Amino acid sequence: MGLAGLPRGRRVAPSILSADFARLGSQVEMVLEAGARVIHVDVMDGDFVPPITIGPLIVGAIADLVHDAGGAIDVHMMIERPEAQVGEFAKAGADSITFHAEATPHSHRLIGAIHEAGCEAGVAINPGTPVAALAEVAADADLLLCMSVNPGWGGQAFIPASMEKLRRIDALGSDAAIEVDGGVDAANAAEVSAAGADLMVAGSAIFRAPDPVAAYREIAAAAGAE
Ligand code: DX5
Ligand code: ZN
Repeated sequence: MGLAGLPRGRRVAPSILSADFARLGSQVEMVLEAGARVIHVDVMDGDFVPPITIGPLIVGAIADLVHDAGGAIDVHMMIERPEAQVGEFAKAGADSITFHAEATPHSHRLIGAIHEAGCEAGVAINPGTPVAALAEVAADADLLLCMSVNPGWGGQAFIPASMEKLRRIDALGSDAAIEVDGGVDAANAAEVSAAGADLMVAGSAIFRAPDPVAAYREIAAAAGAE
């Protein structure tokens, strides 16, 4: 089975966590029209992180909209026992599925299960988790996600030490795309991109801006993203 996958190249991925859920479809359309091709979906279970957010139902609700525009859905699972949910998210229309290294003793096996389900596989690490957790799976994963805030909420400040951590992830020399998530905005996007990030998630900096289209374009331009 061919992998669904994410578009290649440097990209800014709007996170719908900060969108207005009463009009989610038009919010997603807006960022697609602004040029976004990767839509980031934050899945939280009230266990790995305190909040409960989005499940496969919402992924399924936006899947056609995103795919018809040539976009892809990047699912970020901040959940315990991620193994149990891969099938449902793949079926709902996820193109990539990322799990946290801290949430499973079986990172390597889970990457294989995500590929079997037809999606690209990502491994995420929290700010307190060493890069070594990614190094061991860097040859098998499609995405290496460096959390630049403690996961759970949008709108937090970028943790400065993440910049140097991104450089160390870049130095692994893996073919996997490097993703950064948390506190990315127009002011730090250029530096984050220079540190090695290919995929830059931005939630509040886009959806909480007075003009989300202009905000997306400003961050993408600063990042040198398509
Ligand atoms: C945080 C989530 C992020 C969040 C980022 O736990 O994983 O994807 O939406 O939001 P901002 O860009 O506001 O930090
Ligand atoms: Zn996220």
